[in-house]
Amino acid sequence: MSGAVLLLDATGPESAALAHAAATRGHRVHAATTTTDHHAAPLELSGQIVTDLARTERAVEEITAYARRHGVGAVLTANEYLTELAALVCADLGLPGNDPRLAHAARDKAAMASALTAAGVRVPRTRLVLDDTELHGALAGAAVGFPCVIKPVSGAGSAGVTVVPSPTEAATAADTARRARGPYGEEVEAGILVQAYAAGDEYSVESVTQDTVTTHLAITRKTVTGGARRVETGHSLPVRLPPATEAAVRHEAEAAIRAVGIRHGASHTEVVVDADGRCTVIEIAARLGGGHIGLLLQHALGLDVFTALVDVALGRPAALTPTVHGHATVRFVTSPRAGRLTSLSGFPKPGPGVPFVRWRAVIGGLVNAAGANADRLGAFVVTGQSEAEVEQRANTLARRVHVQVDASPGGRVPDQVSSASRSAIAP
Ligand SMILES: Nc1ncnc2c1ncn2[C@@H]1O[C@H](COP(=O)(O)OP(=O)(O)OP(=O)(O)O)[C@@H](O)[C@H]1O
Ligand SMILES: [Mg+2]
Repeated sequence: MSGAVLLLDATGPESAALAHAAATRGHRVHAATTTTDHHAAPLELSGQIVTDLARTERAVEEITAYARRHGVGAVLTANEYLTELAALVCADLGLPGNDPRLAHAARDKAAMASALTAAGVRVPRTRLVLDDTELHGALAGAAVGFPCVIKPVSGAGSAGVTVVPSPTEAATAADTARRARGPYGEEVEAGILVQAYAAGDEYSVESVTQDTVTTHLAITRKTVTGGARRVETGHSLPVRLPPATEAAVRHEAEAAIRAVGIRHGASHTEVVVDADGRCTVIEIAARLGGGHIGLLLQHALGLDVFTALVDVALGRPAALTPTVHGHATVRFVTSPRAGRLTSLSGFPKPGPGVPFVRWRAVIGGLVNAAGANADRLGAFVVTGQSEAEVEQRANTLARRVHVQVDASPGGRVPDQVSSASRSAIAP
């Protein structure tokens, strides 16, 4: 029996790609969706269970009962917020999934720091602070120092993350982290994190693990805005690093994957490499990298990572060997200021070497200055044979894009994770 495939969350480009891959393989596709946006599921589904995804225990019960009734043979998610739920459901159903006892450590960055440290992985010093007294204590101590990073415990998409240069900015940053909310009306988190700042260049490692054996598909270079609120403005892959650095990055990613119990499925490990080639793991997610990284893997390396992930979830051998050797990059367009978007010009059209463009902001609508990934206005992908050619073309295209934003009163829209961004954290 081929078995049905159940996706946790059916919004966002990665969910759509997983659903398409499963349907192409001849599987019926079901989804577990949340009470608030089940009507938004854009996919052709054989069925869906609507459940409160913020109530984990009940969601596990309801989803497993549904999966048994519908002959589900694979459960997977592209959604950062649901990776622990996916592990719990897979364990209950006896399907290939991640270790349910460790899956929490891929969501909760305090637990993550402990698990990674115990596994010998280099991570920024991390303090969980429950109130202002603990916050002041953490900032006064030598362990963290300045600049530091203040962030929510289990956020995504850079929502609520601030790089804090000095004590003066800490209170606002702490408020920003406390205000950030997940997409499912989760309970307010008990604390926030204060983390040492890791200086260097940012990369991520895109990996797929099957039966505890990990294949690193690519290392991705990230372009990130500077300043207090960091937003990823580009991803390029595959990048080549000096051999010793590349070995260190892979080694740390592999140790992190094991430490958070990833046994079957995708992972996205974010690292900073400093001037001496030392690698620090900022975080690991038990899902495919967002920001159209799946598309980049397809165009640069000929890898159909979505089909591979469906196969992994079904317990079948997955094709993870590159079939082409090119390069691909995605660039995100952001607004220079908060206000009303009055015009857009020069945004690329799809064509040879530009396989994908997506504009999502509305002319006449309010936009934020880039403060979190959800603030990005649009994206385009450039692909080709060589890194130099692709990066040059992407830079040229990016320079042609002009957005006009009239400053308007009202400040920024509060940090939140949009439905499009939580699955893939992409516009
Ligand atoms: N300890 C750190 N040192 C240096 N930079 C950091 C640190 N923590 C976070 N950052 C910066 O802030 C960005 C967002 O932080 P982080 O990855 O923890 O948030 P996130 O909400 O999980 O984001 P995403 O889901 O987009 O990966 C990072 O990509 C990095 O640029
Ligand atoms: Mg991150």
